[in-house]
Amino acid sequence: MAWSIELEGLGGRIIAEPDETLYETLQRHGYRMRVSCRNGVCEICEIQLLQGEIEQRYPKKHCCVTAVDNQGGKPILACTSRPLSDVRVKIEGVRPPGVLVVKKLRCDITSIEKLNSDVYRVRLQLPATGSLAAEFYAGQYLDILLPDGRQASFSIGSAPEQGRDLELHIRHMPDSDMSCAILECLQNNASVQIELPKGTCYLQATKINPQTRLIFAAASTGFAQVKSVVEHLLANQYSNPIYLYWGARIEEDLYLERLPEQWASDHPHVHFIPVVSQPEHSPGWQGRCGLINDAILADFDSFEGVEIFASGSPAMVYALLDSCETRGFSASQMHSDVFAYAPRPPKS
Ligand code: FES
Repeated sequence: MAWSIELEGLGGRIIAEPDETLYETLQRHGYRMRVSCRNGVCEICEIQLLQGEIEQRYPKKHCCVTAVDNQGGKPILACTSRPLSDVRVKIEGVRPPGVLVVKKLRCDITSIEKLNSDVYRVRLQLPATGSLAAEFYAGQYLDILLPDGRQASFSIGSAPEQGRDLELHIRHMPDSDMSCAILECLQNNASVQIELPKGTCYLQATKINPQTRLIFAAASTGFAQVKSVVEHLLANQYSNPIYLYWGARIEEDLYLERLPEQWASDHPHVHFIPVVSQPEHSPGWQGRCGLINDAILADFDSFEGVEIFASGSPAMVYALLDSCETRGFSASQMHSDVFAYAPRPPKS
């Protein structure tokens, strides 16, 4: 028999599979709550049974609350209790699906690797402790918090499926005090303070229409954001057509390009189009030349059923939007962090 679970204060009901614990049902439906041992020992998952009947596996207990005797509920453990009737429960701090919490965390710096003349791949590891665990969506970014109070944002270049291991692509700009301070902090410390997740330009594979064609337009280290999203889609075996345009000034500015080449060779629905704007300074370059915006417009007559994710400067993103709009494209089809941090006045 499938019983329903009602969450006090959140409305709606979710259905438990036979023999599923309350925690398992909540998790399967995307709800988040505090858990640790998951076997009835630590009691961190204690919740209040407001109505209904449950059986608790450990510590062994049978509990029944009727509407008549409901005086604020009876404590039970979500990780070892399964419903024996429809139930209503109260859970402190439970988060509905899709709601992530922004956290400040200190994480380990596990490696720093130079990928070309000025881009570094920085690998971080989030704390293992349950209460400090952090979640993010593919495409979101984090802030690095320096000890002197300054902070800088970087796209998370790894997919959520990689768990605690995060990756950043950081371009070193010797003329920028901030850039030097970030790199010095990362190179001379074993850990760093970060705040995440940030940003509303992200993609959840489960929410995307399988017919949608996805264009990614990345300039320079904008590739990090794209990498997270594409790896997320591939990890979840989504086969939406993907067109990845990666623009750089010269060939040497591209880094990790073997990776998207490999995606394209392993997955027929992935197309990788690197574009170099100064081919005269890229000896031997045989790929596309010019600007990625022009390359996209040359390749697509119609943008029907297309979503564009643009990771670049405000000038590049708005130029791409304006050009695509001349072909029936709508601003709602484009996603970019630029819209949040550099909004432009509405057109008159
Ligand atoms: S998570 Fe430890 S008792 Fe439920």
